[in-house]
Amino acid sequence: MSEKPAGSLPLPGRADVLDHAAELILETWRSFDAARAGRPMPGERHLALLSEPLPADPSDAAPALDAAADVLDVSLTQARPRFFGWIGGSGLEIGVLADALMASHDVNIALSSGAATLLERQTVCWTGEFVGFAPGADGLMAAGGTVSNLTALTAARERALPGSRHHGLANHSMALYCSAEAHYSVRRAAEVLGIGSAGVRTIAIDGDRRMDPIACAAAIDADRRAGVVPVAVVATAGTTLTGAVDDLAALAELCASHEVWLHVDGAYGLPAAATALAGHLFAGLHRADSATVDAHKWLYLPKACSVLLVRDRAALETAFTHDESYIPHSGGEEIHPVDRTLEYSRPLSALKLWLAFRVHGARAIAAAIERNLRQARLLADLIRADPRLELLVEPQLSAVCFRHLPPPHVPAQIHNAALAEAIADDGRIMLAAATVDGVPCLRACIVNHRTDENDVRAIVEVVLDLGERVARTGPQAVS
Ligand SMILES: Cc1ncc(COP(=O)(O)O)c(C=O)c1O
Repeated sequence: MSEKPAGSLPLPGRADVLDHAAELILETWRSFDAARAGRPMPGERHLALLSEPLPADPSDAAPALDAAADVLDVSLTQARPRFFGWIGGSGLEIGVLADALMASHDVNIALSSGAATLLERQTVCWTGEFVGFAPGADGLMAAGGTVSNLTALTAARERALPGSRHHGLANHSMALYCSAEAHYSVRRAAEVLGIGSAGVRTIAIDGDRRMDPIACAAAIDADRRAGVVPVAVVATAGTTLTGAVDDLAALAELCASHEVWLHVDGAYGLPAAATALAGHLFAGLHRADSATVDAHKWLYLPKACSVLLVRDRAALETAFTHDESYIPHSGGEEIHPVDRTLEYSRPLSALKLWLAFRVHGARAIAAAIERNLRQARLLADLIRADPRLELLVEPQLSAVCFRHLPPPHVPAQIHNAALAEAIADDGRIMLAAATVDGVPCLRACIVNHRTDENDVRAIVEVVLDLGERVARTGPQAVS
């Protein structure tokens, strides 16, 4: 069949270009199968390419794709098996193909879009079932955990103060309650919603770094007495820093008795609810009003693919439904997905999660998460077993905070901050610098389907190697 692309911007030889792109993707996947020795940095060639002016004239697609692949190869990616830095998905291969197919169709899920709308709903239901959210729950996909949290809290604000979407807060003070180690997106939501970051009550954490439910109840009672309207309790199911899971059952009980919305920010940790190893940590989740799960974190999918689960779809509709002349609602009745969220144009990001569930099956996905949990335990064991290392927090999920103990004449605080920089420059592994209770440390978060036991052992090897060099020579000499 001859290839004759139509339209004003044809892609010459598109079938060959597609074969070429497929070859590049395959090469990329192969390069991720095993760790590479270091991290190549952008060179003269890349800097020259990336300072070129706007191209006015066409160029062949195959070399342009090669140039793109070359740039990406010297970029930091979370897909490599020894990336333990921030919490990010590892580019599951079926998700990559789903993204290409999704972008080709380019459905706008803002509006009722036939089968795509049904697919999004099915994917949300599957995700709810996977993590054990309220049966029959609803929700939608969002651009990220930050947006999912904001969307849920917008619905919570409207429930707490009906009409606030139209009239504003009308001199009411409002408050949100979350763990002192909740993600910044909670504070950001408070700022955007007019609650203000001063209205975020950061509740003390216990010895397991979980929000203290009694202190939370006391804060709600004190606010009510002072005329402040409680909007929601935001439980964290897997804090970004240490992976601590708040006591969801106790918080659900508290929210039921105090008639406050319970949102669970499980952007990072909630997928672990599907495992035998950690499932018990999430008891009580089914009682939450809403929950965030980022499939672009621990369900391994490429960014961005967040799922917002809600118990009562009507709460989203009350907060977001509108009627504009450019998005008619036939007879004023038809509800479009845009009537349940703050985003307008949305890609069918559900497709990659839907395909991941279909192709791998929920059981294998849960097993991959469980493998990461065991790897985190292995890392904690290796750290505990070595007197040159100190485990700062017992891992509940897959985040491990620890530090290297230098010889007595070197201050451990300065040493570990310098070590984090040396590790980043070295490039064999990627860890994050972090601070736990004011102590600078290293943090590994294992949310990668490619990571194996040798990759985990490499963390200890590299930290000891560079730790000793930094202690001996100082950070400048190592980098
Ligand atoms: C607990 C938690 N909530 C929310 C977020 C924000 O997610 P996103 O980066 O997808 O907006 C993160 C990001 O790491 C997180 O760890």
